[in-house]
Amino acid sequence: MRIMIVGTGYVGLVTGVCFSEFGFNVIGVDTDAAKIAKLQQGEVPIFEPGLQDLLQKNLAAKNLTFSTDLIGNLPAVDLVFLAVGTPSSESGAVDLSFILNAARSIAENLSNFMTIVIKSTVPPGTCNILKQEILRINPAAKFALVSNPEFLREGSAVRDFMQPDRIIIGIEQEHSRDVMQKLYKPLQLQRVPILFTTLETAELSKYAANAFLATKIAFINEMADICESVGADVQFVAQAMGLDQRIGPLFLQAGPGFGGSCFPKDCLALQNFAEAQGTPSKIVSAVLTSNQNRRAALVDRIVAACGGSVSGKEVAVLGVAFKANTDDIRESPALEIIPALLAQGAKIRIFDPQAMPNAQQYFGEQVGIRYPKSLKECLCNAHAAVIITEWPEFKNMNLPEVAGLLCPFAPNSPRVLIDLRNLFIAHDFLGINMRYVSIGRPVAEPNLATICENIND
Ligand code: UGA
Repeated sequence: MRIMIVGTGYVGLVTGVCFSEFGFNVIGVDTDAAKIAKLQQGEVPIFEPGLQDLLQKNLAAKNLTFSTDLIGNLPAVDLVFLAVGTPSSESGAVDLSFILNAARSIAENLSNFMTIVIKSTVPPGTCNILKQEILRINPAAKFALVSNPEFLREGSAVRDFMQPDRIIIGIEQEHSRDVMQKLYKPLQLQRVPILFTTLETAELSKYAANAFLATKIAFINEMADICESVGADVQFVAQAMGLDQRIGPLFLQAGPGFGGSCFPKDCLALQNFAEAQGTPSKIVSAVLTSNQNRRAALVDRIVAACGGSVSGKEVAVLGVAFKANTDDIRESPALEIIPALLAQGAKIRIFDPQAMPNAQQYFGEQVGIRYPKSLKECLCNAHAAVIITEWPEFKNMNLPEVAGLLCPFAPNSPRVLIDLRNLFIAHDFLGINMRYVSIGRPVAEPNLATICENIND
């Protein structure tokens, strides 16, 4: 089977590379000529563990090629995946223009029967809209539309593709079942559940999964706020909840709120879609509001931890990526926290193990922001450090060394570490002259560390 993948963003690139690893002949197509040129040279334009090796291996094996020419390559393939972006429009509804344009190009040039698989995340009913559009342009077109939403996570995308929890496939013709079964045979042999359903059900399943995971995160973050107000420990609460098999332990890590290119956009799209259908989702709306408010509340918490003012103070921001193992900063909490601290007069130094180029491009050269080359340089003589991303490099910091690098706000005041990812416990700070402020747990003051140790025991 020869496969074309239209769109070489996260989803399209990982999908194409992984199908070529299965032994299929894959061509990745994108309108971005510079990106295609890089991919042809074996260079992955994003940081995604394991992807570059697989890309280079399959380029060398000639299973995988890249081109900007959709039309010219169409006659040579049996199946097309559409994996182009579906961003939010200003109204919050999904902007379908990229996927509609791709479908139109295919419609105008379709000669043989084609299976057209929608990988992009699209609202229920979109496959039908695409089908009508293709038929409008080319009434004689012979094709089948399939919905095959993607559940991979940035940072573990290759593993998620190769070992998924399940594969969801929406079809409207029995023939598509055979095609998709052939495509996913390597995973079927690993006993990965492959569930067939209708187009609309498959489309909605993707939104429901993302919105539910976002709900879990928003929920535990609200529990963290309650923990802070009563002196309880959200890590324990999450563990207690997660051990109940009906709840499960994953996605219950309290933190700065969810970011990235998926949860915020998909929750907004689902909220919009549900409202337009006359079946508004109060839960999804509340999750979005709660996540948005959290960022401002965390800025207040950071300022309070710094003694009530950050004006004129040097604040080291550790992590700009929206989560670890990616260089993606889209919708990262850091993008709101940093400007808010700057507005209150703080001087910011930023360090991220992978996202420095993206951070520098986003914030640019501006008064009040520096981009140190190393973690040590970032911490050196800062008045406070704020961990925003859960990079292992931050988790493995030597705390006495960190305390030595930071400087106090005022004579006799402790150093301040604010950890929005709960990478440490109070016990780690025993004997260290540092105030440790984390999420949903009591503040560990230097003189309180001994008391915390006794509680932890
Ligand atoms: C998410 C879904 O997890 C994937 O299944 C889906 O395919 C993808 O969106 C998509 O729609 O394309 P991703 O955005 O890469 O994947 O990242 P996640 O690992 O899900 O994290 C999302 C956000 O939630 C991050 O900001 C992360 O820090 C936060 N999070 C996650 C928490 O705050 N707590 C947790 O316990 C887990």
